Amino acid sequence: MIDPQPSRPRRNRASAAMRDLMREVQVLKSDLIYPIFVREGDGISEEISTMPGIHRHSLDHLVRHLDEVVPLGIRAVALFPVLGDEHKDRTASESVREDGLMQNSIRELKERFPELLVITDVAMDPYSSDGHDGLVDDNGVILNDETLPILAAMAVSQAQAGADIVAPSDMMDGRVAVIRDALDDAGFTGVSICSYSAKYASAYYGPFRDALDSAPRSGDKKTYQMDPANLNEALREVELDIDEGADIVMVKPAGPYLDVISEIAGISPVPIAAYQVSGEYSMIKYASQAGAIDEEAAILESLTAIKRAGADMIFTYFAPSAAKLLS
Ligand code: PBG
Repeated sequence: MIDPQPSRPRRNRASAAMRDLMREVQVLKSDLIYPIFVREGDGISEEISTMPGIHRHSLDHLVRHLDEVVPLGIRAVALFPVLGDEHKDRTASESVREDGLMQNSIRELKERFPELLVITDVAMDPYSSDGHDGLVDDNGVILNDETLPILAAMAVSQAQAGADIVAPSDMMDGRVAVIRDALDDAGFTGVSICSYSAKYASAYYGPFRDALDSAPRSGDKKTYQMDPANLNEALREVELDIDEGADIVMVKPAGPYLDVISEIAGISPVPIAAYQVSGEYSMIKYASQAGAIDEEAAILESLTAIKRAGADMIFTYFAPSAAKLLS
């Protein structure tokens, strides 16, 4: 008998074992980077109002949180400091204080969890009274070249405290080269740079800005973060950052920009990170709380899609949940 339907792709989906055998990509626990928020104080863990399940921790609390999270198989964290207004100024001077919240946190985490990779954010916004990633002049213009030495000093200060990877998220032109030079001059040739290369001016950062209270005090970030419509420009940004010495290039946000990840995966000789940002997290969280979607399935599906597009590693607030699901 001749099969009237000779092409039967369903054969490869017939059972769980068949599907496991056929699977093209898999999210691994070792792909996950867990973004964490540290604030001043003692014994504090406050939930971020627009990110259910995510907290700003004081350092003692953060250590206890990581005591639970690290054994799940989380091997990298991305650290973001939450600072009070009294620590913010025009030039982000707090960002290089040896005894600052960020520096103390890096030292403490490296001491408690020597194997855990600590990735640090290099950008002015957590420390800036203007809420911008660069220096702002009296007319509200974001100054590029004047910002570079501030970023370089911040990166060196983080490396001194023990950061394994510094991650410039500011989108100033030329910052990777300046940071690489400054790190090398200070003797930190072994500290890596993960550049937020294709970082879009995105509405999906809303909850993160609530977490840090870091929204721009005036204007927006569109003169430095990218237009969501642009793909070619992302390729250009990636090429420049690789030339300047980036060890890892990042696309951010992740889910709405899978095509960008995919194109970059086609050209990049260095590994690619994707950042499933705060708004992507909160959308899944709120939709599941409302009973509209299954949270666990949506977590794995969204991360798998990001991996399939070509990401080698994923920054995600779901890291602990995903690690549990992948066990
Ligand atoms: C700023 C920075 C932002 C995020 C990481 N670093 C927000 C912004 O550019 O305003 C967003 C991360 C997220 O939304 O989860 N340097």
